[in-house]
Amino acid sequence: MKTILDVLKILKKNGFEYNPELSLYVDSKTGLPLTLFFDRDAGRLFLLDQCKLPYEVAAWSTDNWYEAAVKGIKGMIVRGSQAIGVAGAYSLALACMSLNASSISEALKILFERGEIIRSVRPTAVNLSWAVTRILNRIKSREFSSLADLKLNVLDEADMIFIEDFILNKSLRANGLQLFESGDVVLTHCNAGSLATVYGGSALSILSEAFLRGRRLTVVSKETRPRSQGFKLTLWELNRIGIPTVAITDNMVSKSIERFKINKMLVGADRITADGYVTNKIGTCDIARIAYMEKIPFYVAASHSTLDLDHQHGEIPIEERDKDEVRAVYEYEIKYMRDKGLLSERSVEKWPPDDKITDSENPINFKIKIYNPAFDITPGDYVSKIILDIGVYSPIRIKHLTSRLIDKKISRIIKSELKDYD
Ligand code: MRU
Repeated sequence: MKTILDVLKILKKNGFEYNPELSLYVDSKTGLPLTLFFDRDAGRLFLLDQCKLPYEVAAWSTDNWYEAAVKGIKGMIVRGSQAIGVAGAYSLALACMSLNASSISEALKILFERGEIIRSVRPTAVNLSWAVTRILNRIKSREFSSLADLKLNVLDEADMIFIEDFILNKSLRANGLQLFESGDVVLTHCNAGSLATVYGGSALSILSEAFLRGRRLTVVSKETRPRSQGFKLTLWELNRIGIPTVAITDNMVSKSIERFKINKMLVGADRITADGYVTNKIGTCDIARIAYMEKIPFYVAASHSTLDLDHQHGEIPIEERDKDEVRAVYEYEIKYMRDKGLLSERSVEKWPPDDKITDSENPINFKIKIYNPAFDITPGDYVSKIILDIGVYSPIRIKHLTSRLIDKKISRIIKSELKDYD
């Protein structure tokens, strides 16, 4: 099960074909590509370039672990909790492949250091750290005959993480299907679709599956400033599937509930802590509060790799991203207006101008501070159900899950899915 041939066999059996122009595998039914693929022969990681979507469908590739982590993951060429977990696993595999150590113990030491760097590039989604830890735990518990043996083991585990994400999204959508029916109008936030996983997606995959089974659904997709994943990625993805979708900006939720009769909300997650709190894209907590007030069911869909049973919500890091993400659209507008002659040379080039911005944490020193947290945390009280690949849970039941129980459930699903491949 752990060789390149098997990965390709699984992809082909699931209707994926290699698209040489794109350098990625594409689902021949939906036309949607995988978000990433590791080419063992070339020793390169290929990522669907989500910074270019929806304007251009193109891949970005690298054979350098640091570039994969910093440009690929932190730069959000690949994004979404599950996809960055798998990309992190392959970054570590690349880090291992380029090792030039004189002994296995030296190689392990370097690999653990590189693992720390990889997990730090996007600290909130636990999937990244989970994938790195999973590989490091595997190599910690084994003896290796050579450096080549170590490299093979790391790559095999990364492939396993890739395939599991691919397979388990199917059980996630099967688990979520029962909660959606014809006539539903579902509000979603950010992109928790195929693009946020290896393939298939978490939240959106349930809606796509329900739609492909003939349920008449409408999706309302929030723009999700500042990077607009809802407007760019979710619209692109749902449009390829053909689901009727309404695009709204982030401040149109209450009005849209009234106008479109939104009767369910469904989002993904970047981390679900033992106390049943859900960390997800900034703005999630706002709509969860509205859902609670309006008595609209609020569902969260996620992979088991998003669970963080070792922590409570107050203990997790929230990623703050560059202020330029917030002002980028204004920069483009200024450039556009200047190019059209609508602004003179006297106009500013950026708003707010650099010299008006302060990074100080002390409000007394603020000129203009741009605050850009990437995630917020929703209390479990606002969440109706958490749909996982291993089952559907109330937030208060998350604390009863144990790693042993999860592993047992996962291996049962994987075994049953892979029984036809031998
Ligand atoms: O910053 P992003 O685009 O990586 O954030 C993505 C989200 O918040 C998704 O909702 C989340 O990762 C769940 S999708 C598997």
